[in-house]
Amino acid sequence: MAGDPFDEKLAEWQAWCAAPWGRLRFAVVRETLRRQAEAMGAADGGLRVLDVGGGDGRDALALAEAGHQVTVLDPAAAWLAEARRRAEENGVAERLETVEGSIDDLTHVGADYDLVLCHFVLHYRPPDAGDIDRLAAVLRPDGRLSVMAPNAAARVIMRLTREGPEAALAELASDGFESAVFATAARTVTTEEVEAAMSAAGLVLVGRYAARVANDYVSDDALKDDPDYFAALERLELALCDREPFVRLGGMWQLVAERPLRPARRE
Ligand SMILES: C[S@@+](CC[C@H](N)C(=O)[O-])C[C@H]1O[C@@H](n2cnc3c(N)ncnc32)[C@H](O)[C@@H]1O
Repeated sequence: MAGDPFDEKLAEWQAWCAAPWGRLRFAVVRETLRRQAEAMGAADGGLRVLDVGGGDGRDALALAEAGHQVTVLDPAAAWLAEARRRAEENGVAERLETVEGSIDDLTHVGADYDLVLCHFVLHYRPPDAGDIDRLAAVLRPDGRLSVMAPNAAARVIMRLTREGPEAALAELASDGFESAVFATAARTVTTEEVEAAMSAAGLVLVGRYAARVANDYVSDDALKDDPDYFAALERLELALCDREPFVRLGGMWQLVAERPLRPARRE
């Protein structure tokens, strides 16, 4: 769509994904999603997954490769075409379908999903959009919802290490930021806000993770082009991604919540 900041920035996004920090983000999430499938008794595949705002299908592709059936919903047609191309290239086209649409209306993608993802979308959405309610509504009982967004606190530290204390103070005072990749405004989404919305939607938190816990503290980005350094950094990221207090420090957070078999009784 002309004028859509995402559709027009696919090349910039792909460059970001190919950079060491992008590769680390996807490596960590591949592992945290693998753990969800394992916990749901589907380590070898078979889950029905909906990836809302799934873009060019990177998380979706990892799940399709693991044997799950994934629907990627996104308003950006060029990104969805790229998701299909990548699925074809990786031999999993029959397990990845794309639907052009918005999180505003999930009625046309059906319901009863085992796993629903909404990664890096909510900070581009208004705070009162009711997105968590809509995401929770398409889960089957016992199904899981995974939400990811940037960590505002980590951005303060990242700016400190790269630009100094004045930049960190400015970051601390702001309630949003401009996405460097998409050149568009984003708001701060907190884990507290999303946990409260999950709980109000009747979901129970079952997982808390972070990606880029270590990466963002290493301001010498050139180091990460060294394959041995990168491999060690990736091992460190995987070792830290689910441990307190590191999960509070990552450049991006991930929360996973489950829809209970029976709704919690309100006293
Ligand atoms: C930063 S990308 C994240 C892509 C993918 N979820 C990931 O984490 O790799 C943001 C995505 O949100 C999508 N998006 C923007 N507005 C949306 C909306 N109203 N409903 C669903 N997706 C939306 C964009 O088209 C884009 O694909």
